[in-house]
Amino acid sequence: VELRRAVRDDIDVIVWFVDAMLQDMASYGGHPLVEARRRDRLLRAHVDACLVDADHLLLLAVPGGAGSEPLGLVEASVTGLDELLRPKRVLHIHALYVEPGHRRQGVGRALLEAALAWGKERGCQEAALNALIGNPASHLYRATGFQAFQVEMRRRF
Ligand SMILES: CC(C)(COP(=O)(O)OP(=O)(O)OC[C@H]1O[C@@H](n2cnc3c(N)ncnc32)[C@H](O)[C@@H]1OP(=O)(O)O)[C@@H](O)C(=O)NCCC(=O)NCCS
Repeated sequence: VELRRAVRDDIDVIVWFVDAMLQDMASYGGHPLVEARRRDRLLRAHVDACLVDADHLLLLAVPGGAGSEPLGLVEASVTGLDELLRPKRVLHIHALYVEPGHRRQGVGRALLEAALAWGKERGCQEAALNALIGNPASHLYRATGFQAFQVEMRRRF
């Protein structure tokens, strides 16, 4: 599997992957999603903006061989902290997805590690992401050096 930067022609597969990830997250107890056509429109606009933002990374995992279809994606960007806090460049991992038939073969780890290396090169002092309790992706995050740092608390009315 090779990793390559996404280009505009990849927009359909990127939207597909991010949408599949959001559906997986909803199944792990995340917020329910808006209807499919609205998601598609919103995700397309988001990916369009990411593709022209130099602080944003969209990497695809592609099996070797010309013309083969991507099987996973990582999306990350360089962000800052609130201006009340001492300035820090933080790599935020927004999305990580590998197609179900290709999981547990190291693709997710390769994508994540490539994103971390990209952030480090850009001077990030730390990396951050959100993971739902119960998502097995947490195993991968712990295995790549992430630790739980704060607990987001909610209550229903
Ligand atoms: C999370 C995800 C990207 C992992 O991709 P992957 O290619 O299967 O990950 P890897 O094969 O690189 O896994 C590396 C290590 O992470 C851990 N890991 C990954 N998936 C795991 C699982 N389901 N259960 C337990 N450990 C897991 C293991 O330690 C694994 O190493 P091992 O297979 O040698 O034991 C993939 O499962 C996925 O797309 N899930 C749905 C979308 C999602 O939840 N994304 C994250 C949102 S926060």
